[in-house]
Formats: sequence, structure tokens, C-alpha cells
Amino acid sequence: MNISRALLMLVLIPAFVLAGCTYFNNIPPVSTLENPTRSRTLGDYEVAGKVVAVQVCASCHGINGQSQSPMIPNLAAQQKEYLINQLQDYRDRSRSNEYAVQYMWGMAGPLTDKQIQDLADYFSKQLPAKASNGIPGDPQLARGKEIFEKGIPEQGVIQCNSCHGPSGAGMATFPRLAGQKAYYLIQQLHVWKYPNQKRFMEVGGNTWAPRTVTFARPRGVLMQKEALSDSDAEAVAIYLSTLQ
Ligand code: HEC
Ligand code: HEC
Repeated sequence: MNISRALLMLVLIPAFVLAGCTYFNNIPPVSTLENPTRSRTLGDYEVAGKVVAVQVCASCHGINGQSQSPMIPNLAAQQKEYLINQLQDYRDRSRSNEYAVQYMWGMAGPLTDKQIQDLADYFSKQLPAKASNGIPGDPQLARGKEIFEKGIPEQGVIQCNSCHGPSGAGMATFPRLAGQKAYYLIQQLHVWKYPNQKRFMEVGGNTWAPRTVTFARPRGVLMQKEALSDSDAEAVAIYLSTLQ
């Protein structure tokens, strides 16, 4: 091999290698799961909802949609249509309480419509979370069951199962309540009952100050009529958390 051939190779080999790299960089990954850098930006439309689900949402809601924390709801087997509605309501900030503001506004803000569809699809297809055992003989369980199945006619409260289904599994825009975290359910019943509340919220940096948060769930008109006393709300929430 003469000198000029050798020189030519010296130039060409790195050129091929570099060209190869850019070529491969331009191919969209077979599955974005294999390209974690992309999923760092939620708003990147190329990141499939499923990737966002397992890499972002799973840290709080569980990879299978089963949460380990009382204020974080299970998403597993939740109605798909209902999930789409809720993610849109967090995204446009019309669904609000202190947990929504602190956790979900930021999470839903950058999601695209396509990602919302994918996420709702992913979580709705997970197996329902195991219901809580409750405390055997707890009088709240009996009271909760009564409200769920019969309502409280003297207060105009319609039985919950007429909308949420006989087993609490929900349907379309009516959410599944069966097996949901009791604490989370109570917080939601408070949204309808106490729309304006003062809460300690982070206002910037590490400063926590009392701030009026308007609690709202724009699609909950039907729920506004279901005003329960605090003790009845607790009873029905505990009962629902034990429904399989
Ligand atoms: C840092 C923890 C955290 C992360 C991460 C998180 N969530 Fe949430 N999520 C919460 C909390 C807390 C609530 C309850 C908010 C409330 O009370 O309105 C919630 C509520 C929800 C709800 C409402 C469920 C219902 O029954 O109405 C949906 C849907 C949801 N999250 C989806 C998601 C999706 C999708 C992602 C990923 C993009 C995600 N969350 C990421 C903490 C989190
Ligand atoms: C007339 C129909 C109707 C009846 C009766 C009804 N609900 Fe609902 N409920 C709804 C709808 C619709 C939603 C979803 C609202 C939304 O999309 O924000 C809802 C949402 C909820 C939620 C929020 C769930 C979540 O995952 O965030 C809870 C908790 C709830 N209902 C409890 C009850 C209880 C307890 C009763 C009985 C006392 C009851 N509901 C009776 C229609 C009804």
C-alpha cells in the first residue's frame, strides 16, 4: 500500500464511521424504551405514552397502576374515558386541590393528546389493585355499604351504585371506585363539599404559606348533589376501598 492510499484510508475510515453514526442517530428507535434520553422531555410527541407511564407516572402510581400511598390513586383498571377526561382537566388546570396543584398539574401540563390517549389506554388495561381488607366488624363498613347501595333518601343522596356500577367498577366517564385508596376518595368528596380551602402550599423556593386553593372538578356536577357528612364520606370511602 503506498503512502497516498494509506492517507486516503486514514481520511475515509473515520468519515464512514461518522456517517454511520449520524445515519443510525436519524433512525427512530424501534421502541423509545431503548432510548431513555428522549423520555426526559414529556412534551416530546415521539415519546410513546407507555414509556411515559413506566418511566414517569410509575414512580408514584406504580408500574401496574397500583399505588402504595394513601393520597395517590390507583389507576389500574380505571375507566379509559374517565382517565382521558381527568388528564385533560389537570392539563388545563381546571381540576384542582392541593395534591392536584402540587403533583398532577406539572405532570399533565406537557402531555399531548396522543400521549393522554396512550396513558389512559395503558393504565385502564392493568389488573385492578387488590382491595384493602378493612377492619372486620367496623361499623363504618356497614354504613358505607348502605350509602353505596341505598343512598340517603332523606338527604337526597342517590345510591352510588346507580352511576358507579353495582360492583363499583364504573363505566366510561363514571370512575371505578372499587378498591380505591380510602384517603384519596375522601379528598375527592371534599373537593365537591368544600370548594374553597386555605392550605399550606409551596409558594416559591422553599416557602410554605397559607394560600386559598379553589378546589374544583369541572365534570363533577352529578357529584355535587351527593353531599355527605364528613363521617358518612369516611364510611363510604372505607367501604369502597374494600370492594374487590
Ligand atoms: C409525584 C407523584 C405523581 C406522579 C409522578 C404522577 N402522579 Fe398522577 N396523581 C398523583 C396524586 C397525588 C394524585 C391525586 C391528585 C388529586 O387529588 O387530584 C394523582 C392523580 C392522578 C389521576 C386522577 C385519578 C382519578 O381517579 O381521578 C390521574 C389520571 C393521574 N394521576 C395520572 C398520572 C399520569 C398519567 C402520570 C404520568 C404522566 C402521573 N399521574 C404522574 C401523583 C403523581
Ligand atoms: C348521578 C351519577 C352519580 C352518582 C349517583 C354518584 N356519582 Fe360519584 N361520580 C359521578 C361522576 C360522573 C364522576 C366523575 C366526575 C369527573 O369526571 O370529574 C364521579 C366521581 C366520583 C368520585 C371521584 C373518583 C376519583 O377517582 O377521583 C368519587 C370519590 C365518587 N364519585 C363517589 C361517589 C359516592 C360515594 C357516591 C354515592 C354517595 C356517588 N359517587 C354517587 C357520578 C355519580
